[in-house]
Amino acid sequence: MCCDEYAPNRLVCTKCGKEFNLLEKRIVCDCGGLLEIRLNKSASKLSWNSFRKRKFNLWRYRDLIPLPKDTTIITMGEGGTPLISSFSISKELGLNEFFIKFEGSNPTGSFKDRGMSVAVSFANYLGVKVVACASTGNTSSSMSAYARRARIEPVIVVPKNKVAKGKLSQSILYGATTIAIEGNFDNALEVVLRASSLGLIYPLNSINPWRIEGQKTVAFEIVDELNKVPDWIALPVGNAGNISAIWKGLLELKEFGLVKKLPKLLAVQASGAAPLVNAFRKGLEVPEPINEPETIATAIRIGNPASGQRALKAVRESKGCFISVKDEEIIRAQKLLARYEGIGVEPASAAAVAGILNVLEDIVRKDESVVAIATGHALKDPDVNSSHEYSLLNALNIDEAVGLLRKLTT
Ligand code: F0G
Repeated sequence: MCCDEYAPNRLVCTKCGKEFNLLEKRIVCDCGGLLEIRLNKSASKLSWNSFRKRKFNLWRYRDLIPLPKDTTIITMGEGGTPLISSFSISKELGLNEFFIKFEGSNPTGSFKDRGMSVAVSFANYLGVKVVACASTGNTSSSMSAYARRARIEPVIVVPKNKVAKGKLSQSILYGATTIAIEGNFDNALEVVLRASSLGLIYPLNSINPWRIEGQKTVAFEIVDELNKVPDWIALPVGNAGNISAIWKGLLELKEFGLVKKLPKLLAVQASGAAPLVNAFRKGLEVPEPINEPETIATAIRIGNPASGQRALKAVRESKGCFISVKDEEIIRAQKLLARYEGIGVEPASAAAVAGILNVLEDIVRKDESVVAIATGHALKDPDVNSSHEYSLLNALNIDEAVGLLRKLTT
């Protein structure tokens, strides 16, 4: 029997390996490294059948989320999102199995709700009064919603004039105190990190290890629903928390005997904000920041990803690939998804699909199974939606409108 078979769940520094009590409030190690939660081996008694006796949402996997037993779970039924089979795009491309995991159907319209449900539950357990995050818009919407549900004050720091309207309107609705900073997401994150180190707020960006515990559940759901491990999981990457979480989840499934193989990760960045693609190509372990990231996919307009190192390691371990896509390709993929599949996603999510289209046959083979994670709902970014061309016919009255319809249908 291994000596740490019954070791408690613990917080471990990803840089120096130092261990801390799981219930400590700390976010980073004294050495500056990010902390990660390590599960003890008791999870090895789990099975898919035991999970499937529970409702299909992220709390189906409660055994793999090591919140203390007496935690009040702050939930709105997040997770359990649809895995939608692509009818038309896969047929057109000759792809054998292509699915969209539609995270837009989470309570606030993005995958962030998974991490927030878990992390706000923990913040509430700690008795935190004020939570804060830097955000390109989705983290802030999600954090504000879950914080309000837990009666905790939300403070958000966002890049001025760079947050999509749908997202901004959500945090206004939730009444989050908002700091709009001249600069980009990376500057906003610096504000939150500094405020956190001064003990002013409890940070809920994905550097918080509890966020990762929630976000890893999308990997569990994909395997649960498909009843197998796909060959590829494709996803957009910004601050790189999500890809780190997904890889952590997949490694746990393997460690606990719930899967035998692992998928390859196709990590997609916008070409104007692609520090990790550059680092991947150059063989670097640590990305070089980009000072002025720019892309229409504002969600992933990030030049200095906090979890960049973890993401590079994950993609390399998976034998996957980091690739970039141009804004025009993102827009084209968004339109394809909407007009051929009926699936409305925000631009960052479309980047994952644009990535697959770009590397089909070169990196992703047509006989492989692919799941693209659509991280956010189309309603998040109404301005980009409205920039697509469509046929608009004006009618002055009912007769004229019926006349137009007659012309169109005969
Ligand atoms: N897709 C969407 C829709 C996002 O909002 C984000 C990140 C990502 C992908 C990338 O995920 O950062 O974990 O690599 N949005 C953050 C935010 C930055 O503030 O809402 P990541």
